[in-house]
Amino acid sequence: MSKTQDQLKQEVANAARDYVAEHLPAGAILGVGTGSTANFFIDAVAAIKDRLGGAVASSEATKKRLEGHGIQVLDLNDVVARGLSMPIYVDGADEIDASMAMIKGGGGALTREKIVAAVADTFVCVCDASKRVERMGKFPLPVEVIPMAQAQVAKALAKFGGTPTLRAGFVTDNGNVILDIHGLSIVDPVALETEINQITGVVTNGLFARRGADILLLATADGVQTFRR
Ligand code: 5RP
Repeated sequence: MSKTQDQLKQEVANAARDYVAEHLPAGAILGVGTGSTANFFIDAVAAIKDRLGGAVASSEATKKRLEGHGIQVLDLNDVVARGLSMPIYVDGADEIDASMAMIKGGGGALTREKIVAAVADTFVCVCDASKRVERMGKFPLPVEVIPMAQAQVAKALAKFGGTPTLRAGFVTDNGNVILDIHGLSIVDPVALETEINQITGVVTNGLFARRGADILLLATADGVQTFRR
């Protein structure tokens, strides 16, 4: 019998918990992503919460879930100001390619995810096998935009070949809107990430190519496989 997607997410979440138990120095800070796979991870990592010196959350939803397990959530500015390190960040992805570049932001938390990932030493991506792709772009690329710039940014994004669509009724934790670009075929993820971020009014986009994953834990029908950059 084939595994359900939730079973795959549970397996990869358990594998990420084991990775954290083995590699996170006792008392160190863990960065935690957002989404359904990240939620499985949060529930799994609760079993080893006494090892953690606290967590940094990439969204309000993740903060609430961590706190629900009694895991202390720290402010990222405090962590950086105190010179503390964050050895590991664990998060899901919407697509990941062979170079470990990702599309993220299906849950709309891309900006905070990118910020927390930028501070972490090692990005551990947790996915089921459906997220692994040859070329990214089938999943619409999310772009977080300052609301008053939405129309202007949508016009500017159209030149990249896809169709930007406003995510209806959605406001990010930062009070912004999301334009999802449908129909892209992403040949050079680093260049596209950089170019989109140059558009005035864009906060950031969901390409994580300049800072991709360092480790991929991929849940497959045959078990969890590990890839390294
Ligand atoms: C949220 C994200 C998520 O990591 C991404 O959407 C994957 O989510 P899920 O694990 O639910 O498939 O980037 O902003």
